[in-house]
Amino acid sequence: VDEKTQALFDLYQDATKVYHHILVNTQTGEHALNYLHDRGLDDATIDAYMLGYAPGDDFLLNYFQNKQVDYQLLRTSELFVVWDDGSLHDRFSNRLLFTIRDERGRPIAYSGRRLEADDTQPKYINSPESDLFDKSNELFNLDLAREPIKKGKQVILFEGFMDVIAAFQADVKNGVASMGTSLTIDQVHLLNRYADHITVAYDSDAAGQNATKRALDLIQQNSQMSVAVAHIPDNQDPDEYLRSHDAAALADVLLKHTENPIAFNLRFLKRGLDFSNQNDVFDYINQALMLISSIDEAVVRENYLRQLADDFNISLEALSDQIRPMLMQRQ
Ligand code: UTP
Ligand code: MN
Ligand code: MN
Ligand code: MN
Ligand code: MN
Repeated sequence: VDEKTQALFDLYQDATKVYHHILVNTQTGEHALNYLHDRGLDDATIDAYMLGYAPGDDFLLNYFQNKQVDYQLLRTSELFVVWDDGSLHDRFSNRLLFTIRDERGRPIAYSGRRLEADDTQPKYINSPESDLFDKSNELFNLDLAREPIKKGKQVILFEGFMDVIAAFQADVKNGVASMGTSLTIDQVHLLNRYADHITVAYDSDAAGQNATKRALDLIQQNSQMSVAVAHIPDNQDPDEYLRSHDAAALADVLLKHTENPIAFNLRFLKRGLDFSNQNDVFDYINQALMLISSIDEAVVRENYLRQLADDFNISLEALSDQIRPMLMQRQ
């Protein structure tokens, strides 16, 4: 890399160290450290993830200015916001910091979580894109997860930082996060370099399920990977599920009791429908048949048809009649 890029890498490395130091060794970071301990993270995990704490009062700016770091370098780093008068101010204040690392483990961005329940503030504030950080091309934790992914040819895709970290601490080490809900094609390609199989383990709230639908379609259209969905019970996210159960239960949900895309899509079709209403029933059956008609193997198709027939007490013959034109259209 060129000199300027290297200087930025060094700057982020330095910032990460000092933010981590504040978190683990100072009174200023104590409440943030307690917060992490209360959420079940141990010190080894906090170190492995280089978690940090950003104090207020332009702490980082002062830190770098004391070291006489060049203004232009600070300005282009995106670690600061630039005011109209050209003055710089810390982008992250009074927040817990998740360090985003590139595939080689170098810090390139942060996401700062508020610690107060106060929801007039956004929960997370993220670094904008910079010379180091191309958001659509990065996945949180790919550096640590890469070898475990290669080894098992399998990756687990989470929504959030805490999901990845909690899973890691529970010994599920092949997890990465899309950092929110919109997976990109570049991220899919990146994962397809190492994995043959991907499990989508997004939150089970409505936003997470909608995002799962989009992710499945994106993965199936843009990669060779086989896909499964880990449906987290009780409307929780993986981290919450781990806390309310245990590591073995989480591993079960993530690795054993996964749904194939057809099963997910059938469940997804049911959202908001009321099966005491005949129109909803017929709508569902029609859409379910379209989905089933996309399955290549006749035996698997028949299996889903039987299930549909049982669920709605309809003859297999009627369903077969109705799916026939859909199958013809498929050719
Ligand atoms: P969630 O709202 O599910 O947060 O967003 P979370 O990961 O469960 O966080 P905790 O457990 O409350 O601490 C999932 C991911 O979406 C991104 C973050 O990457 C987060 O981990 N996000 C969320 C943002 O970038 N900004 C936000 O305001 C919220
Ligand atoms: Mn440490
Ligand atoms: Mn969520
Ligand atoms: Mn979540
Ligand atoms: Mn969470």
